Amino acid sequence: MSTTAKIVRITINGKVHELEAGRDITPAMTLSHLLREKLSYTGLKISCNEGACGACTVLMDGKAILSCMTLAVQAHGHEIVTIEGLAKNDPVIEAFAEQCEPGYGTALQCGMCTPGFVMSTKALLSEVDKPTMPEIKEALSGHICRCGCYAGIAQAVLHAADKQSSKKGAKS
Ligand code: FES
Ligand code: FES
Repeated sequence: MSTTAKIVRITINGKVHELEAGRDITPAMTLSHLLREKLSYTGLKISCNEGACGACTVLMDGKAILSCMTLAVQAHGHEIVTIEGLAKNDPVIEAFAEQCEPGYGTALQCGMCTPGFVMSTKALLSEVDKPTMPEIKEALSGHICRCGCYAGIAQAVLHAADKQSSKKGAKS
């Protein structure tokens, strides 16, 4: 590696990636492109690619962001978490996987929108332990589910909040 090369450093799911500007990363490259196409974090989806659907949502320093609307270089020095960075028994993952209750329907059909909803739910529950339904709707309002699973998704978020509280309670 040239000593004059500009290095972009991004921590992704706890692992530091050092990327050389001009070689690994270009000024116009989006974070979604870097994550999916260059680094194989394919959990996030690129659907609209214009900030309108939420499918590409990841966490940057704990906040939900649209990776298709973020330049890869803007992530320099920041911590990114993709859905691959969550534990299999993460309460949000479990709640979405289990949500198929009669009366509310499933939280996922094709699954295209699911990683984005999960990451925004993680961000929401990191700020509010027990969100109300209006808070859930507000937090997830930037997401589109083309399969129309909104009622099931909202129930999954409520269940995730319950699970997370119980896990926290068990630890304390
Ligand atoms: S793919 Fe980024 S918001 Fe739709
Ligand atoms: S489950 Fe298909 S888009 Fe949401």
